[in-house]
Formats: sequence, structure tokens, C-alpha cells
Amino acid sequence: MSDFSCFEFKDDKLIFIDQTKLPIEEIYIQTDDYERIAEAIEKLEIRGAPAIGVVAAYGLVLSVREFSHNREEKFFNAFERMRATRPTAVNLFWALDKMRIAFEENKHLDNIYELLLHSAREIHLDDIERCEMIAKNGLMIFEKTCYVLTHCNTGQLATGGEGTALNIIKEGHENGFVKLVYVDETRPLFQGSRLTAFELEKANIPFKIITDSTAAFLMKNKMVDVVITGADRIAVNGDTANKIGTYNLAVLSNFHKIPFYIAAPTSTIDLNCESGKNIKIEERKKSEILRIKDIQISKENYDVYSPAFDITPNELITGIITENRLHKPPYNFNDKDC
Ligand code: MRU
Repeated sequence: MSDFSCFEFKDDKLIFIDQTKLPIEEIYIQTDDYERIAEAIEKLEIRGAPAIGVVAAYGLVLSVREFSHNREEKFFNAFERMRATRPTAVNLFWALDKMRIAFEENKHLDNIYELLLHSAREIHLDDIERCEMIAKNGLMIFEKTCYVLTHCNTGQLATGGEGTALNIIKEGHENGFVKLVYVDETRPLFQGSRLTAFELEKANIPFKIITDSTAAFLMKNKMVDVVITGADRIAVNGDTANKIGTYNLAVLSNFHKIPFYIAAPTSTIDLNCESGKNIKIEERKKSEILRIKDIQISKENYDVYSPAFDITPNELITGIITENRLHKPPYNFNDKDC
């Protein structure tokens, strides 16, 4: 494995970096068990919408690795297990569906394992290409050298490739358009201060970590030129589910007349979802708020409400950057876009 890679399927195993340990420790886990992959998605050892789609596809490959007379039952057990891991990112369901179709078409063939592996690799390669195109298309949002603000983690760790919003930031930096990145720490699990900071450090891009509540102050003081985030599910009308706190940034950006962009592959667009009202929001467990790692920071008996995502209404989004192009409002995604 290279110096830093999010995950890789090699020698009939998935090897992945445990994102819960970053950036302090770089620990790789290897498994040939789809149940371990499902657990990794649930625990956010692997996270980010496109990444969980790709690794879930590899999980299904592993479910048919050993010859079995009840191959179909095994595959669908794994399929349902993966579907139950996280509800909001549509890339998961998109990738699982592609794998289901590949299974249905080939289920009687002896080399089903190789055929499913081929399908999973295609999903992975496809995501790598989409990330490249998103970065290229995203370059057009920069008109001058910018101070950029981003939320959560949308880079290599969150995708099969180089990232979505963070890849635009990297491309922008390479082309002289990004001076500094403000990184929201992204409570409660710190995907910003741990993961985005880690990736920006590796890419040699100047950054400053801020608390999530610092954005308004920065914007008021004209310290932010553009905000770019990723997405977990985009409805046909452009309403976008992303990490909790994204909606706050969109409201603030609009108030301060700062462009607010979403970047995502079209595999994040849900054509069955007319608006944000139809998007299921994952709720996380209270211990993630009451503790940081193993340190208790508030009383165990206190009640907590912890939605993992929020919905940004389409009218607050300046543009949505996909691998196809920069979409401008009014948004009305259809088959042709995806
Ligand atoms: O809970 P997470 O860490 O999986 O949430 C991830 C996000 O919200 C990302 O912004 C989104 O998945 C896009 S990743 C390219």
C-alpha cells in the first residue's frame, strides 16, 4: 500500500485505514469478512458517501468468495446487512444496486466471485474518474485567489478517488486560486479537524482549523471568499443532505453574500427523491456527544439529539458541481444529468 491510501482490495481482502484513529495514528485493517466491512461503515472507520458505496460493493464480493449451494441466500444476507449500515448517503444504495444487478445476471456462473469483483472494481474506477472531473469542473468557480471554507471531509478518505469538494480545493490551490482553507472542526466526530486537516497537510495546502461556530465571525470580517462542501444525497430539486452544520454555512453564506457550492458525483443524486423532505436523516448515538474518544465530557444521563446530517434547501446553493458540469439553479436533475 502507498504511503497513504484510504482503502484497497488486494489478495481477496479489503485493506482500509481506520479513520477513527486519524490523524494521530495511521492504522490499517485487513479483512475478508463482509460483516467486518459493515461494522467499519457503522463505526465510521470508513466514511464519506462515495467511499462507503465502493467498500460496500467489495463487501458483497466477499460474500460469494467461498463456494456454496446457497450462494443466493448468502449474497442477499450481505446485501441487506450493507443496506442497514447507514441510511442517508445514497451512494451506498446506488452501488449496492449495481452489484445486485451484476449478481442477478451472473448468479449461475462458476466464476461469480471474479465477475462481482470486476463490477466492484468498475464502481471504484468510475468514482476515481468522477473525482477527477469534479476537480476540473470546479476550477471555474474561482475568479481570484480565495480564502475557502469547508466542512467535514470530502477528500481521498471520503471517496474511491481524490475527493469531491476537497479535490476542487486541491486543484484550485495547484492553479494558484486557493490561498488558505478554513477547516470546520465538524462536531461531533471531528472529520474536519482530524481528516481534512490530515489530507491538507499531506497536500501541503495552508489551512487553519476553526470551531464550527466561528464561520459567522469570519464571514462578517470578510475573511472567507467561497464555501465548498460535499453531499450525501441530492434531491431532484437540488435540496442537499450533508454533514450536520452544512445548512448553517449555507444560511450564513447567503446572508453575507458569499458563494456557497456543493460538489458531488452524480451517484449522489437521488432521482427517486423529489425534495429534501424525502431524505432520511441518520441519528447517531448519544455517547458521540457526551464523550470525546474515551473522555467523558458531560454526564452520561443527559439527553442528547444528534442528527448526523442536515438538508440545505436548493435556493441557498450557488451551484452544484458534478463530474458533468457546474449546475446552476433552478435545479431539476433528471436521467440525462446522471
Ligand atoms: O458521517 P460522514 O463522515 O460519513 O459524513 C460525510 C459527509 O457528510 C461528507 O461531506 C459527504 O459524505 C461527502 S464525501 C465526498
